Amino acid sequence: MKFIVCDSYEEMSREGAAIIAELMKKKPDCLLGLATGSTPVGMYRELIRLHEAGEIDFSAVRTYNLDEYYPISPENEQSYRYFMNHNLFDHVNIKKENTHVPDGSAADPDAACAAYEAEYQATGGADIQVLGIGQNGHIAFNEPEEKLYAATHVTGLTQNTIEANARFFASVDEVPTRAMTMGMGTIMAARKIILLANGKNKHAAVEAMKEGRITTAVPATLLALHRDVVVICDREAYHG
Ligand code: F6R
Repeated sequence: MKFIVCDSYEEMSREGAAIIAELMKKKPDCLLGLATGSTPVGMYRELIRLHEAGEIDFSAVRTYNLDEYYPISPENEQSYRYFMNHNLFDHVNIKKENTHVPDGSAADPDAACAAYEAEYQATGGADIQVLGIGQNGHIAFNEPEEKLYAATHVTGLTQNTIEANARFFASVDEVPTRAMTMGMGTIMAARKIILLANGKNKHAAVEAMKEGRITTAVPATLLALHRDVVVICDREAYHG
């Protein structure tokens, strides 16, 4: 696991975008695994800037997102589908049919998760998977538990995550209590992983990754088993 410690959120965003832009230049039809949340927004903004500057082309890029609330309509402004359209896809020349987010409106969420997993695995996995990290060390919606799932699945959100995400909703009661999420094995299928973390409230989780020991109590520590992980963080997240 490699750590890149940056002076600011903007620098982190540029670092992350530079890694993705380099891949896109080498492999125009690359497959990107994408995350939502507040952390990658700056990186998406930088990718949009690079696209507008004529440096990167999304016309052949394919994307698979980590997760989605359940149940939620893709038109709901709090859905991760809406988030991705609004923060990235609507501003670049990506083909919408090449973008994939778990379907929060599926009638049978378990079947939808199984289909998402099969379709994703059939691609051979992402060239780069982007991750954020929860204060409790969750990645995607893989929350600290004794047992973690390998594949895409439906999961309940912890109170901690519901409260952390309540800032995006009118009230805490409106935060969906379930989600569809890639599992640990799905995430590990990517050839390269970049994890972004900023702010002091992410320090404990980053510290657990620095330790290099593995526990399902901090799901992100399992990334130590992957051979190409780059953690891009600011000084607060790294040093506390
Ligand atoms: C989002 C996701 C989550 C977030 C994490 C951090 O797709 O999978 O695990 O990455 O909750 O969220 P922020 O960036 O809002 O602190």
